[in-house]
Amino acid sequence: MDIDELDIDELDPADATARAAWHDVMERSVRAGRPHALATTLAAFEVVTTAPSTYYSRTWLRALVDDEVVGVAELELPLTENTDVAQAEVHVLPEHRRRGVGRALWEELVQRSRAAGRTRVGSEVTVAAATGDDDRGGAYDFARAMGALERHREDHLLADLPVPAAAADPAYELLLWRGRCPDEHRGAYLDMRNQMNADVPSGELDREPPLLDDARLAASEHRLMQAYDVRVAAARRCADGVLGGYSLLFVPHGTDYGWQDDTLVMPDHRGHRLGAALKAANYADLPAEVACVHTWTAPDNTAMHRTNTALGFRVVERMYEMEAVIA
Ligand SMILES: CC(C)(COP(=O)(O)OP(=O)(O)OC[C@H]1O[C@@H](n2cnc3c(N)ncnc32)[C@H](O)[C@@H]1OP(=O)(O)O)[C@@H](O)C(=O)NCCC(=O)NCCS
Repeated sequence: MDIDELDIDELDPADATARAAWHDVMERSVRAGRPHALATTLAAFEVVTTAPSTYYSRTWLRALVDDEVVGVAELELPLTENTDVAQAEVHVLPEHRRRGVGRALWEELVQRSRAAGRTRVGSEVTVAAATGDDDRGGAYDFARAMGALERHREDHLLADLPVPAAAADPAYELLLWRGRCPDEHRGAYLDMRNQMNADVPSGELDREPPLLDDARLAASEHRLMQAYDVRVAAARRCADGVLGGYSLLFVPHGTDYGWQDDTLVMPDHRGHRLGAALKAANYADLPAEVACVHTWTAPDNTAMHRTNTALGFRVVERMYEMEAVIA
């Protein structure tokens, strides 16, 4: 292929065939050489493309050669916080790599980010866990070649189910809900979600944590439930009924894996091994076809790493948060 033959256009989010083709190229690109990769499901992609969010503006690009889509990209512009940042994703089919397609998509994303007044572009890259510090692999090298620097790192871990039992401290009882948080817990749940956003280690990544209020939580729950079985475990202190922690788990509809999102124990409630108990309670409640759970944790988050290791999680990949200054 000659790079001159390359066209970049914008996905028409109203075109179902084009949406499916975009998703297929993204998925094939993500899975190439990454047996443990987690790719957004088509159902989840359909939600973000067909029902725009109030909090993020998103655009999807396609790189075409002779009408064949060989690469795709996503640009996400936060609208409420981090309004100087753009988040970028670039995917090129393995058979079309190292010919400038990725660079052409990246440059288009940068141009659009500048036009939207953004001065930084963030991007996540994931590589095999086996790579050393001097050899992190193609996607990392691509991001560096685009001028991005590493700002934060997380391990991608995987556990096969069932995991060993982790009983809750008898001073607490565990509550489980699916989908929307029940009204009686909403205030406490919002406090914990906001505490999580403020507490989660993010290295040198300079980001303003999103502030969840009831409307934003409700919008997020509504969107997530269209593509995921959303499961929450929370710990309530028996003595006073105070919620001391929660763990949030998604099972994408039609899949056999879980995706472990937040787990937080509030400062006053730490030291009771509630993190492991919350996670284990969620996993024990899953349907039998769910065979494994993915999660991400910063390697220097010792408490969460210990919890994960005790539950049988193993590191399968490394994820890097990269960032380029485009001012
Ligand atoms: C990362 C990715 C998008 C690169 O796409 P690409 O079309 O091969 O990239 P380009 O050909 O434009 O490469 C541009 C530069 O990046 C660097 N680069 C890209 N792939 C590399 C590799 N495997 N090893 C070392 N450097 C690499 C090189 O400097 C390259 O310039 P050069 O070919 O003149 O040396 C592609 O490998 C991919 O889709 N990976 C999976 C998705 C992903 O992880 N994306 C993360 C980025 S947001």
